Amino acid sequence: MKDKSWKPKRVGGDSSSTSSGVPVIELSIRSAECKATLESIIREIEGVRLKDSQDAAVPALVIMELEDNPEDTFSLIREMGKLNKGTEIFLTASRLDSVMLLEAMRAGAKEFLAQPVQKQEVVDAIRRFLDRVAAHVGKGAGQRKSGKILAFFGGKGGVGTTSIAVNVAAAINKLPSNPSVALVDVNQHGGDLPLYLDLQPNHSFRDIATDLSRLDHAFLIRILTKTELGIQVLPSGYDDLSTGRLSPDCVEATLRLLQANFDYVILDCGHVLDLTTKKALELATLILVTSTLMVPVVHRTKRILELLRGSGFPPNKIRLVMNRFLTAEQDVLKETEEILKQKAFWLFPNDYPSASQAVNSGKPLIDVAPRSAVAKSYRDIASSFDDQAAQQAGKGSLVGWLNPFKGRKVQSSPSGA
Ligand SMILES: Nc1ncnc2c1ncn2[C@@H]1O[C@H](COP(=O)(O)OP(=O)(O)OP(=O)(O)O)[C@@H](O)[C@H]1O
Ligand SMILES: [Mg+2]
Repeated sequence: MKDKSWKPKRVGGDSSSTSSGVPVIELSIRSAECKATLESIIREIEGVRLKDSQDAAVPALVIMELEDNPEDTFSLIREMGKLNKGTEIFLTASRLDSVMLLEAMRAGAKEFLAQPVQKQEVVDAIRRFLDRVAAHVGKGAGQRKSGKILAFFGGKGGVGTTSIAVNVAAAINKLPSNPSVALVDVNQHGGDLPLYLDLQPNHSFRDIATDLSRLDHAFLIRILTKTELGIQVLPSGYDDLSTGRLSPDCVEATLRLLQANFDYVILDCGHVLDLTTKKALELATLILVTSTLMVPVVHRTKRILELLRGSGFPPNKIRLVMNRFLTAEQDVLKETEEILKQKAFWLFPNDYPSASQAVNSGKPLIDVAPRSAVAKSYRDIASSFDDQAAQQAGKGSLVGWLNPFKGRKVQSSPSGA
């Protein structure tokens, strides 16, 4: 029998829960006994639902267990609070002294459930939570995010895909609207993205692939590497020399969760079109195929564009970006666009000294050479994405993103080279 003694006020809208509007609860708990007890208590409470493995929506409530190192739990609570202001966190532990309790509350934990958990305490805490949810309906709290996935795919190796992905992520992160940004390396044939940000990450896609059933919001946020810039990075953990492969299922589950947590998810997809990359491109809001005007690159980019069009990707979801462009090459560009049957959406100027200085220092070019034309170009493309996102905010449609005329803007800044 469900506990019907307390009826929640109607929770409308598409909250951080599900499309049905019922707040979803995620349990991030290692202790099997505590988890089972909480599950059985929560199943009896009307007006909430336990998260199932298929659910990518951000939970309205996460009940997490204090880790061996409490500071890890507190920083995770702070991080989750920053990303999803509508998500509440309850903490459970077998013991917690008053100093730690204060620290947990400061980090953002709303309630504390002492173990072994008592049914009445859990029911009361969840009632208070539902009261707060009901009070916030219509005030924007708990709104489910659906971030934009921008997938950068190289027409050929070495054209600058990683440089562009890193700098666009860094530039979006600095926009006045202060969006949250995740930068993800889906390149399993040479995932070297961490080097571009001088990172030595402890976690990668491999941690998710090891046991996909462990993947939930708390796990995902725990394994992301937070950079000084504020961007959160998920490296691929695979390259040409490593064993194992990144599966399309793993990429799909991860990207859906990231999309629910971040305003922007920027993907470095490398230049190999395999099933895993294809899955990432399917989930992307925009596919930005990177090329240069070099003949072998144009040749392969043409094949890539044909393959994508032939695989049923909507043509207006595919954008062509030209890297290392020189203003003297206007005629070559025109000819190339005819060969590729696609106008360039963006032109990034050639600036080898700034680009290599950035790579060698492990910092984004926009920080290393902020006054360069190429840095301006990265900032401009970032603003153009945010403008389109702002136009579409509230409309719940991708039309503006997919309309090639609305979004088309060619930045032909002089290369300076
Ligand atoms: N706008 C630019 N102007 C000049 N050089 C650039 C520019 N962008 C990137 N580069 C340089 O091009 C080289 C390749 O860049 P990057 O590693 O980003 O390419 P990639 O396509 O990701 O390569 P890979 O196929 O190895 O993953 C680097 O030396 C980088 O500094
Ligand atoms: Mg690369």
